[in-house]
Amino acid sequence: MLVPLYGQEYRSRKKMDSQSEWQRKDWVKVRGVPMICSCSSNWERIDNFQAREEDIIIATYPKSGTTWMSEIVDVILNDGDTEKSKRDAIFNKIPMLEFWVPGVVPPGCQVLDSLPSPRVVKTHLPVSLFPKAFWEKNCKIIYVARNPKDVAVSFYHFDKMNQLHPEPGPWEGYVDKFIQGNMGFGSWGTHVKEFWALKQERNILYMFYEDMLEDPKREIRKVMRFLGKDLSDDVLEKTCLHTSFKAMKENPVTNYTAIDSSIMNQSVSPFMRKGICGDWKNHFTVAQNERFDEYYQKEMSGTDLSFRF
Ligand code: A3P
Repeated sequence: MLVPLYGQEYRSRKKMDSQSEWQRKDWVKVRGVPMICSCSSNWERIDNFQAREEDIIIATYPKSGTTWMSEIVDVILNDGDTEKSKRDAIFNKIPMLEFWVPGVVPPGCQVLDSLPSPRVVKTHLPVSLFPKAFWEKNCKIIYVARNPKDVAVSFYHFDKMNQLHPEPGPWEGYVDKFIQGNMGFGSWGTHVKEFWALKQERNILYMFYEDMLEDPKREIRKVMRFLGKDLSDDVLEKTCLHTSFKAMKENPVTNYTAIDSSIMNQSVSPFMRKGICGDWKNHFTVAQNERFDEYYQKEMSGTDLSFRF
């Protein structure tokens, strides 16, 4: 059954008052990393988060395919039983560790404390803010990265519809904000590179959004193997269909329509927006593209990490 995080209870006056307090606030820096204002206080809750060995972490820079990977992992853990995957909304099944709207939505880490193992944890935190317990317990981490031009476009539309984020302003200046790392969760380059550098020594499966689009079955099989699941081709096929963009856009469990429009206004831009590679070509001007290419070359120099656009 769907139990929306922002259901009837949330509509009480007190909650409405608390919620408006958090709308359209500027990012607040946590150890130098711009964070959603409502999530930024009492950071000890994140530093002291009690990880468990069985925890599976889905880590991403925002707008890189987190929700897609989350539903894939949920179906795999349920051995392909897509009925079980309908039990609750994605943000309740797989809480976001750092999320919190005081007075409106309880802290993600508190919700996670109450869940049985194996828990799946969503986070956008960069390596510098990762709770150390995840490393100490050697938790499995699935990292999803996406080409930064499409991330910037997706983030722009998300900032426009998500009332907990600051107004993004016109697209014209947005690309420069992205280049400067003046975005929620900080610099894209730092995020993707630091997890890439750790993947040899840590329990990290590093995935790419563009690979998932190109051959979802091949990529879902990688996730199954990483999770130690040997599921049949039928299950693979079913998982693939259930997590297609079209299916997830229509599925109330995954399309975020359970979130009140005063937080996510999907009439401005749907959460499941386009789900393609290359939408940046419809947004970037020639000049923006040149500046971005220069930034990208600089960011990627000295690493063997590269992206498909
Ligand atoms: P667009 O805005 O480019 O459409 P996240 O979950 O990390 O916030 O990422 C959201 C992005 O992933 C959105 O990108 C969304 O449409 C896309 N997405 C979500 N589910 C998808 C799926 N099943 N297939 C392809 N893209 C998907």
